[in-house]
Amino acid sequence: MHDDMLIAQAAAVLKAGGLVGMPTETVYGLAADASSAAAIARIYAAKGRPSDHPVIVHLAHIEQIKDWAIDIPEEAWVLARAFWPGPMTLILKRAAHVLDAVTGGQDTVGLRIPSHPVAHALLAAFGSGVAAPSANKFGRVSPTTAQHVRDEFGDAIDLVLDGGASEVGIESTIIDCASGRMRILRPGAITMEMVEAALGQERVAVMEQYDSTKAKIKEIERRALARIGVKQDAPRVSGSLDAHYAPRTRLQLVPPHSLAETVAHHAPRELAVLSRERPAGFDGEWRQAAADPAGYARELYARLRELDKLNTELMLIEAPPQGPEWDGVNDRLRRAAFGSGDVV
Ligand code: TXA
Ligand code: MG
Repeated sequence: MHDDMLIAQAAAVLKAGGLVGMPTETVYGLAADASSAAAIARIYAAKGRPSDHPVIVHLAHIEQIKDWAIDIPEEAWVLARAFWPGPMTLILKRAAHVLDAVTGGQDTVGLRIPSHPVAHALLAAFGSGVAAPSANKFGRVSPTTAQHVRDEFGDAIDLVLDGGASEVGIESTIIDCASGRMRILRPGAITMEMVEAALGQERVAVMEQYDSTKAKIKEIERRALARIGVKQDAPRVSGSLDAHYAPRTRLQLVPPHSLAETVAHHAPRELAVLSRERPAGFDGEWRQAAADPAGYARELYARLRELDKLNTELMLIEAPPQGPEWDGVNDRLRRAAFGSGDVV
């Protein structure tokens, strides 16, 4: 799909301080040289993201993590060997040279080795760390195709590599390995159960939404969102400070048992509905949701974008089941519903 020339060209863009749309198995990233403060500043400018918000450094090979992190605990190596290359980010103590623009001024750095062959080829050709947040405007739905990236940024980025639709579809699981006990900071395809199986249950702390690092980041996000006019007076329920992954259309999550009733309260043309089955008697815009968590995650962001484009007054999403394998999907849906209606 991608010849060596295109990869070499993309690596040259990175070396010159430019921005590349990089496919990964989770979502598309907006890639820049992680050693260049100027290149990272371009990421922040393109995304409209606050500059004290940390970015993940992407690498081609496990041994490279020693170039970016220090005091790497044995547990982190176990996780790295179990799940890399793949949809997992490890938070580790930063090496001295890692830029504040990468870490958000913290003493930790997020590292990930993606499995997507195009990402791997680019990272190997570039030869060093590549900073890459998801390639969406700050607070918006993450991209899972090259077209999503082009729609979002147009000419603001130098080159978009097309690696097809992202297989996983939601962002990597983030695991904090820098504070003594392993903690999952962002759920994803690598579930708590998988982490526990790799490490032994007693070594993993329960996911804490409000640990100090997350709380700090949430506060930064809240202030930034206020600047771009996103409502922030929603109740402080789980995930409500994160207006990430938000479509423009008002979004409501509805428990399966009350979907039909909720639909019946509206004129069909006011609604766009995502559910496992078409609600009885509803002849408006409807998309089918996958019944399995991997399929649901893979399609989620494309569906949100698709439904958003219909410009209806309300998007109704049937709440998926609970359970560890649904944590990633439920986390993103809660955040998408932030500030736009009911959250279940
Ligand atoms: O799957 C992914 O992780 C995608 C692809 C492109 O690799 N990237 C991604 O990046 O989702 P981004 O910037 O959209 O989200 C990364 C999140 C940040 O919002 C931040 O919360 C967390 O990672 N993060 C990064 N460095 C951190 C650090 N040192 N400490 C705590 N959290 C960190
Ligand atoms: Mg993101």
